[in-house]
Amino acid sequence: MTLAELESAKERSLAEIAAADAAAVQTLRVKYVGRNGSIPALIKAMKDVPKEERPAFGKAVQAWKAAVEDALAAKGAGQDGAQAKIDADLTMPGRWHSLGVKHPLTKVIEESAAIFARLGFTVADGPELENKFNNFTALNTPVHHPSMDRSDTFWFGDDCLLRTQTSPVQIRTMIANKPPIRVICPGRTYRRDTTDATHSANFHQIEGLYVDTKDKPVSLADLKSVLAYFAREMMGEGVTVRFRPHFFPFTEPSVEVDFSCHVCKGKGCGVCKQSGWIEVAGAGMVDPRVFEFVGYDPSEVSGYAFGFGVERIAMIKYGIPDIRWLYENDLRFLSQLG
Ligand code: PHE
Repeated sequence: MTLAELESAKERSLAEIAAADAAAVQTLRVKYVGRNGSIPALIKAMKDVPKEERPAFGKAVQAWKAAVEDALAAKGAGQDGAQAKIDADLTMPGRWHSLGVKHPLTKVIEESAAIFARLGFTVADGPELENKFNNFTALNTPVHHPSMDRSDTFWFGDDCLLRTQTSPVQIRTMIANKPPIRVICPGRTYRRDTTDATHSANFHQIEGLYVDTKDKPVSLADLKSVLAYFAREMMGEGVTVRFRPHFFPFTEPSVEVDFSCHVCKGKGCGVCKQSGWIEVAGAGMVDPRVFEFVGYDPSEVSGYAFGFGVERIAMIKYGIPDIRWLYENDLRFLSQLG
């Protein structure tokens, strides 16, 4: 480019900038002084200009650059162009960040922990990959119980499995501590179920365990009062509990726990299948055999345990008809429950 050409390019650029509106000014800024603009390109190409012409040429390029920058500044297009954007449209909205919400399962777990904390329960934790002793044997599971089958449980070899319940955390807690023990254990559990609207191979439970010494005997009535308190706090005023006889290898007696339906207040509706009651948990008095397995003397201690499904509570509490919705991470669904 000769000096004369440079001079006319300069005139052209200044005329363009003078005529441009706010948006076009930004484009021109990029075109002339942007990182890949024509003026920086000229500066880079300076080494190819014959030595004797270089000083004059360099001066002219710098003058062009200064003139363009002045012209841009006069138009309000500074380095970042922010001022120009504001001048162009004062009503432009700010940048919007959507606020996250807690997942319904997280909410149920946190709320449960808070409710039981008021009754003196702390949170205990255990691994999802368990051994046979903690998940079955110490929980007094009969050797040929179907839950131990390969078709029901995810096994990795003979002594390693994905825990089928949070009850093994009871075992770990009792082995590691002396009574009194008052813990809840929330966590992931796994069963070889096919997934449908009410089943999932991976779900969550919250286990509860209270064990105390002979001078503070624990009764089924204690269990019932604690679960009744939980029912009211979690599901709302007026919700009551009832026990139905059941069997679990690790509790004796064992019960299934129903909450009165929080939707129809027990009158019968679609949510409770017209029964007025919703099954939510398994529970019972810790079987003496379990105490023996963890090295406690069953004549010295007594206790209760309970376990409920987190998904189940979330589904009835928030009226979620399909368990799969809890795992699909569809923000249209999740944000409604935030
Ligand atoms: N572990 C049982 C289940 O998964 C629930 C339960 C826990 C029952 C504690 C009684 C006591 O079905």
